[in-house]
Amino acid sequence: MLNFTLQKATIADWETIEKIEKTSDRKLYAPRVDKAEILHDITKNSVFFIVIETKKAGFVSYLIEPDGNIEFNGLVILPEFQGQGIAKAAFNKALETTNAKHYSLFVHPENKAALKIYTDAGFIIKSRLENRFGDGEPRLFMTLAHSSP
Ligand SMILES: CC(C)(COP(=O)(O)OP(=O)(O)OC[C@H]1O[C@@H](n2cnc3c(N)ncnc32)[C@H](O)[C@@H]1OP(=O)(O)O)[C@@H](O)C(=O)NCCC(=O)NCCS
Repeated sequence: MLNFTLQKATIADWETIEKIEKTSDRKLYAPRVDKAEILHDITKNSVFFIVIETKKAGFVSYLIEPDGNIEFNGLVILPEFQGQGIAKAAFNKALETTNAKHYSLFVHPENKAALKIYTDAGFIIKSRLENRFGDGEPRLFMTLAHSSP
């Protein structure tokens, strides 16, 4: 597998995020579609580029909620880097660098690659919501609980 690093995004990176988002499948994933939304997310979330050599090949993002729960709300890798295990490794690396007792995320039930990544990381399907993001598509709500040491 190609080596990668995680690099924190800043608001100056919003166009790079937009370009990466635009490559994703609109049925299986609700991309951030406008500048204001992307800037809001970079400010409120922890957004990390998946950097391969010097190329920003994707990103993984999460939100630390007031109760300490961490919601993963973005995992995208450019098509030319898909199917190589990089997204899975990047997700796991981001997960390892956090220290919450409870994690959550939403994923489209037909997004097999994403579901595999999350299930392998220990996430469990809790419920199904038919129109969580207003795009008419269903989502699975998944959680991961870490027991206290
Ligand atoms: C979701 C996404 C990040 C996955 O990227 P990827 O490069 O395919 O992921 P990886 O190669 O790291 O690993 C995917 C895993 O799913 C498996 N997989 C891929 N396609 C699959 C399919 N159709 N059915 C079952 N498993 C599949 C792979 O074999 C691999 O599992 P393994 O580790 O056991 O070998 C990528 O497709 C993407 O950017 N999609 C657009 C945005 C998106 O949908 N994000 C998810 C948000 S919830």
